[in-house]
Amino acid sequence: MAQASIGIIGGSGLYKMDALKDVEEVHIQTPFGSPSDALILGTLDGTRVAFLARHGRNHTLLPSELPFRANIYAMKQLGVKYLISASAVGSLKEEAKPLDMVVPDQFIDRTKNRISTFFGEGIVAHIAFGDPICKNLAAVLADAIASLNLPDVTLHRSGTYVCMEGPAFSTKAESNLYRSWGATIIGMTNLPEAKLAREAEIAYSTLALVTDYDCWHPDHDSVTVELVIGNLLRNAVNAQKVIQETVRRLSENPPTSEAHSALQYAILTQLDKAP
Ligand code: ADE
Repeated sequence: MAQASIGIIGGSGLYKMDALKDVEEVHIQTPFGSPSDALILGTLDGTRVAFLARHGRNHTLLPSELPFRANIYAMKQLGVKYLISASAVGSLKEEAKPLDMVVPDQFIDRTKNRISTFFGEGIVAHIAFGDPICKNLAAVLADAIASLNLPDVTLHRSGTYVCMEGPAFSTKAESNLYRSWGATIIGMTNLPEAKLAREAEIAYSTLALVTDYDCWHPDHDSVTVELVIGNLLRNAVNAQKVIQETVRRLSENPPTSEAHSALQYAILTQLDKAP
């Protein structure tokens, strides 16, 4: 099978990477079904990468319908060691304004209906998840963003991402609750991905692209769909520049990651004694 050491998952607005060369479309079957779409393998400045449109290239899958296990399994099958997840998010803090980029370091799980483990059915494992994002990969990503000096974009090098079930957005009471918890941004997809990537020993980092202030904000009522779509499009252009620069830095100097040995002490089942 084709191989790529860097994976990219593109969220709302980012359905393809224009700079990819020598593109190959790979349809992968996994024990967990098909991924969200074909994986697109291509070369970015000499490095082979695998791109997947999280919601499908025509955006046909709700967050609750995403085949998270198939997506991560497919990345693992391709040999991916570093996974960059570009994702549209709402902001829970005044200082994280639309078009800003956040590289979160923490998550709060508010999902209700997701399968977020490869284990079970006879194999018991508990991975460490205190630091859910790979610090070294996040540092490369944040440095890449900073180096580009993108107009109208402020970089936030840390922050807590609330992962909600959706598809409806939050109520004002929920939004204010998350603010009282100190959370920075809100989205619907990244926590299951981060957990499964850790179980698969893949270093994972989120590139969160702010599209809107969530409903807590006084300006929220004047936010139009047109404005949000405009932000999504600008974010998608910026995200591709950031990903290209991050890939360049990763291939020049691949960082170590604790994620790469996450299963070392995680499996409790005595596999040699299992029937
Ligand atoms: N994705 C983009 N904006 C969002 C918001 N306000 N809440 C949840 N997910 C989002």
